[in-house]
Amino acid sequence: MQRISAKILLGVAVFLAVIFQANTLQAQDAAKLFKANCASCHKPTDQKLIGPGLKGIRSRWPDEAKLIAWIKNSTEFLKTGDAYANKLFEEYGRSVMPAQNLSDAEIIALIDWTDKGGDAPASAAGDGAAKADGAGAGAGATETSSDSYLYILIIVGFVLLVLINVLNSVKSSLESLVNEKKGIITEPEPIRTPTEKFRIWASNNKKIVAVISLFLVIWVLKQGWDGLMGIGVYQGYAPEQPIKFSHKLHAGDNQIACVYCHSGVEKSKHANIPSANVCMNCHMYIQEGPQYGKEEIGKIYAALDYNPETRTYGPNQKPIQWIRVHSLPDHAYFNHSQHVAVGKIECTSCHGPIDSMEVVQQHSPLTMGWCIDCHRKTEVDKDNKYYEELHKQFVNDPKYKKGDKFTIGSLGGLECSKCHY
Ligand code: HEC
Ligand code: HEC
Ligand code: HEC
Ligand code: HEC
Ligand code: HEC
Ligand code: HEC
Repeated sequence: MQRISAKILLGVAVFLAVIFQANTLQAQDAAKLFKANCASCHKPTDQKLIGPGLKGIRSRWPDEAKLIAWIKNSTEFLKTGDAYANKLFEEYGRSVMPAQNLSDAEIIALIDWTDKGGDAPASAAGDGAAKADGAGAGAGATETSSDSYLYILIIVGFVLLVLINVLNSVKSSLESLVNEKKGIITEPEPIRTPTEKFRIWASNNKKIVAVISLFLVIWVLKQGWDGLMGIGVYQGYAPEQPIKFSHKLHAGDNQIACVYCHSGVEKSKHANIPSANVCMNCHMYIQEGPQYGKEEIGKIYAALDYNPETRTYGPNQKPIQWIRVHSLPDHAYFNHSQHVAVGKIECTSCHGPIDSMEVVQQHSPLTMGWCIDCHRKTEVDKDNKYYEELHKQFVNDPKYKKGDKFTIGSLGGLECSKCHY
């Protein structure tokens, strides 16, 4: 009897754990994906951001295949002449939704998740989360679901132990009852300490112990793996800066070119953060801002020890301590001019929609996989004179087969030494 109930119990436990894991991982993945790829422009509610709110998206796109095609590459999809998509595009001032490098499965998870409005309304913290922006809601949801996964495991384990205990005592009282009937007198159980009891129980129930240990080991491994994968990845990192400098206001509303401030970006490895003197080209005259009045602009003056009344600089100048957002480890080499001037890649491909960010946030993961993925996929612009010679070499290589793509990878962009010192 004990064997059978233990087996059933284990079956139920495994079943529950699998179900809960599958469910929470899905919601968690969608929330993460949304935060990383969509939250800068969309909310999972019906509120507009840069693009439309995505709640109830399925009812606007009855054909799922079309919806997936749109999300993968909206520019391509517009070319099919789809009336709804083209109307939407006009409605949103012809702002292009960037192509999304995601698998069908990931997109479907995103559609499912946003269609019902993200997890904001469903979670216990519903009210607060619904008010928070898309990114916030996504992050909150992620934490809750991974926490609840842990709680469920603990509860399942606890219930399992209690049930086993109950069954065991039922079993032993039944046994002594049977023995009594048979006239066998059972010796009273010797008094044992809890640890001894546990040891005896464990040696009688090796299978259960094995399965529970297996669960624990898997859980610990999973935690460790998640931790490792997360080390050094700061996607979404958006520290508060010493001055509330807004890219939306400067690069977006006022259309100031990125290179005006990040002057190194086309000619050197680093993009550079502008010095306070660059700010003064304009803020000599613009002494008040629309949102914070004199307060934030006053901090530029403070850094330069500048007196706006007398228009004189004092001796106590100190640089503004901007907090670095993007940062690769020292062993990796990345060069802006290579990508911006030669490769002609837009800032937004790597940094996302900076010109609509009030606070800069890290948009891409900046992992090795991310670099390699783009190098493998991006084809070299053959009309670019710089590559003419290289393209000839590529085509004349004996390994070349017709139809091979001339990618950054074929130029050598996958060689370890290109990116590592
Ligand atoms: C840089 C901003 C931006 C990002 C990032 C972005 N979108 Fe969009 N999206 C838009 C804009 C703008 C529109 C409106 C149509 C247009 O102007 O192209 C749109 C439209 C849509 C639509 C159609 C909405 C409707 O009402 O029919 C869907 C669905 C959509 N986006 C899904 C996504 C998903 C999923 C992601 C993330 C994987 C994403 N978008 C990332 C800007 C963005
Ligand atoms: C008026 C000057 C100015 C303009 C124009 C400007 N930036 Fe910036 N940018 C700054 C300053 C100051 C910082 C540092 C403070 C911060 O992170 O908000 C910064 C930070 C950044 C960062 C993060 C740097 C880090 O620490 O990793 C990126 C990326 C960036 N800018 C990209 C852009 C892009 C892309 C554009 C054009 C769309 C642009 N910037 C236009 C002044 C400017
Ligand atoms: C090319 C001109 C230009 C440069 C360079 C420039 N700004 Fe501005 N800045 C503006 C304009 C325009 C406004 C908005 C004024 C308005 O709308 O009333 C502004 C507003 C601001 C505000 C006020 C925000 C608010 O809402 O109160 C701050 C703070 C600010 N800038 C910081 C900086 C910093 C820091 C730098 C240097 C890294 C810088 N700006 C460089 C043009 C510039
Ligand atoms: C191919 C991807 C890519 C493109 C395109 C790109 N960046 Fe970057 N950017 C990065 C990476 C990666 C870093 C981190 C570099 C590091 O830590 O050494 C970075 C860092 C920065 C920084 C922080 C300061 C620095 O130089 O490290 C600024 C500012 C910046 N980028 C601005 C820009 C601007 C402006 C453009 C467009 C003209 C641009 N970036 C285009 C990938 C890119
Ligand atoms: C959005 C696409 C994209 C991403 C992301 C990207 N690159 Fe590139 N990369 C390019 C293109 C396009 C070129 C070709 C320009 C050239 O030949 O100089 C290039 C060239 C290079 C080269 C020169 C290769 C050669 O053969 O000379 C290096 C080194 C490099 N990238 C490093 C990086 C690193 C490190 C990262 C990640 C932090 C990164 N790239 C991310 C598109 C990308
Ligand atoms: C296109 C550029 C690029 C190429 C090519 C490249 N790496 Fe990397 N690698 C990076 C970047 C960027 C990082 C830092 C990633 C991070 O911080 O998450 C990195 C990190 C690493 C790490 C540290 C572990 C980690 O994931 O952070 C090792 C080890 C490594 N690379 C080995 C290699 C080897 C071996 C090759 C050749 C087969 C290679 N890399 C080719 C860009 C590149």
